[in-house]
Amino acid sequence: MAQEDFENAGAECMRFAAPGRVNLIGEHTDYSGGFVMPAAIDFRTVAAIRGGSGGIRIDSENFHETVEYSATEIPSAGRQHWSDYPMGVAWSLSQEGIRIPGFELSLSGDVPLGAGLSSSASIEVATAFALLALAGREMPLARIALACQRAENDYVGARCGIMDQFIACAGRVDHALMLDCRSLEYRLLPIPPEVRIVICNSMVKHEHAGGGYNTRRREVEEGTRILHRFRPAIAELRDARETDLNACAGQMPENVFRRCRHIITENKRVEDAAAALERGDLAAFGALMVDAHRSMRDDFQASCEELDILVEIASTLPGCCGARMTGGGFGGCTVNLVRQESAEEFRDRIRERYRMATGFDAEVYLCRASGGACRLA
Ligand code: GLA
Repeated sequence: MAQEDFENAGAECMRFAAPGRVNLIGEHTDYSGGFVMPAAIDFRTVAAIRGGSGGIRIDSENFHETVEYSATEIPSAGRQHWSDYPMGVAWSLSQEGIRIPGFELSLSGDVPLGAGLSSSASIEVATAFALLALAGREMPLARIALACQRAENDYVGARCGIMDQFIACAGRVDHALMLDCRSLEYRLLPIPPEVRIVICNSMVKHEHAGGGYNTRRREVEEGTRILHRFRPAIAELRDARETDLNACAGQMPENVFRRCRHIITENKRVEDAAAALERGDLAAFGALMVDAHRSMRDDFQASCEELDILVEIASTLPGCCGARMTGGGFGGCTVNLVRQESAEEFRDRIRERYRMATGFDAEVYLCRASGGACRLA
């Protein structure tokens, strides 16, 4: 059903919105306690909710489907269906002792699906805000983010880190956020007004649950176990230095070594990138983005040909300060920092050259860093 019809029918409803995100730098570092630098973007999920007559009814405008569940017996695991995301949040909040009454929820939004821009986190966070309001409960943002991450990890079955849910909660207009994924402390970093965030969608779909993402996580965990045996103070990869890794090289398979090297060097790049942004040094920031892309391509091996092509083309275009793949990888999008005055030309030229190289029509979004989840009037 169209959300408008939902809002016009029956008892009064409340509406909440939560954004998608782009990650400027710091990839696959979140689940080993490291640093990330995402920004919320101006694509969002809107969740409209009203109290139900006892049951649960969820409607998705994107999937043109309505599903029903019992409110007294929320299933304890997903069933590989889009409704796993909102139901996972209902389950996760109930695990925190929040009594979820029956409800009717209508989801709509414009975050491109499966493009690595965190449509799933935006659905989870919009749903969490809606359910908490319905239950008359409040929670600190970090706890909401953690509850949504648990929904995705334990209910949907994708072992993501905390980055996407956190930025969907805590994004700030015209700012990126440098998040310490261990302490959940963060620093807001202004995006210089002379650049636009330009996102290029390779149109190659990525798939998280059960895919390459979970394999990468296992490889990282294996490396961490070996490093921990070497130096017990290494509880997470965040604690390891390159010298530790080099000392352990003989004890781990080549692929595991490379995954760890990516993460250890990436954490350092995020810290350097934050300092560069704070002193307005776009050239240094761009160079770090390019290094980060290479590391994802060669060491973490989570890029793909189409993403590499997009990054290569971007680096030859006027006004482009830096380009890299963004998000979990294996498809999805690149993020580019492009000077304001060149952004539109950049969009046209990259589309044209990407089509010539691959035959695909890339979607290109000129974005603005946006605020986090909120209640709508
Ligand atoms: C996905 C996950 C995040 C993070 C990124 C990679 O977006 O949901 O937790 O791990 O991949 O940086």
